[in-house]
Amino acid sequence: MGVLNAQTKMLNKTAVDHVGVVVAMHGSVVDIEFVDNLPTINTVIKTGQGLDIILEVHMQLNNQRVRCIALTPTQGLARGMQAISTGEPLQIPVGPETLGHMFDVFGHTLDNYDLPAEQQRRSIHNPPPSLTQRSTTSEVFETGIKAIDVLLPLERGGKAGLFGGAGVGKTVLLTELIHNMVKNHSGVSMFCGIGERSREGLELYHEMKDAGVLDDMVMIFGQMSELPGARYRVGHAALTMAEYFRDDEHKDVLLLIDNVFRFIQAGMEVSG
Ligand SMILES: Nc1ncnc2c1ncn2[C@@H]1O[C@H](COP(=O)(O)OP(=O)(O)OP(=O)(O)O)[C@@H](O)[C@H]1O
Ligand SMILES: [Mg+2]
Repeated sequence: MGVLNAQTKMLNKTAVDHVGVVVAMHGSVVDIEFVDNLPTINTVIKTGQGLDIILEVHMQLNNQRVRCIALTPTQGLARGMQAISTGEPLQIPVGPETLGHMFDVFGHTLDNYDLPAEQQRRSIHNPPPSLTQRSTTSEVFETGIKAIDVLLPLERGGKAGLFGGAGVGKTVLLTELIHNMVKNHSGVSMFCGIGERSREGLELYHEMKDAGVLDDMVMIFGQMSELPGARYRVGHAALTMAEYFRDDEHKDVLLLIDNVFRFIQAGMEVSG
């Protein structure tokens, strides 16, 4: 009862209109009942004792129940706890202020930097550009690494995959590309770490800082210690941040994802 009282106090402080109740949990899948105003798909729901457990609506089961995927660990969550619907999808900060910093999937900075409170935020769920908006000419994107430019040139505005076994130098090659992008193209680089070792994020941060390219790049991580829901959504969050630089600032953006297999794996874990 004490827990519920503490929750009610917290709810009174937060402006919310739709409050539901946790009715079932299976690991990171949580079912919540709302009497009316069922939240739509992708809405963020907060629950737990201190409203610190964040969930995303994945499915509407019937008129009153939604099934959610947890983005943060669900320890301490119990049936009967209240859950508040924020009425909004997951949002991520975008803009020139994000340059030079590290983020997690919720847009919190990981480098002890506080973004301004009025920082522009965008939903991570956006439609892709239509075919008519896409460029039809193809142009080579010069990386400055001769073996790549001669043997398998990258296309500007295109996608390329880098395949290789464990420990053969994929991450090192990506950092080299970031370095060249910033030096030669005055563009922006985004690094998105999905499901990789947590120490790699820190190492990359310090490497980029030492190389002096940190001010023209943004890093976002959903590392192997995080829940599948968070690792899956971090890919969308990275794209949203990159789309800002492409569409609003009309800059060249190099988006690197290390690695896409872990993104797919997170998706499989969510669907499982
Ligand atoms: N061109 C290179 N010459 C010498 N050493 C290299 C080169 N590229 C990478 N290495 C070394 O190989 C090691 C593994 O590289 P890296 O971390 O990039 O591998 P990876 O392919 O990303 O591995 P994983 O699949 O485990 O993430 C590093 O210690 C790095 O210093
Ligand atoms: Mg690697």
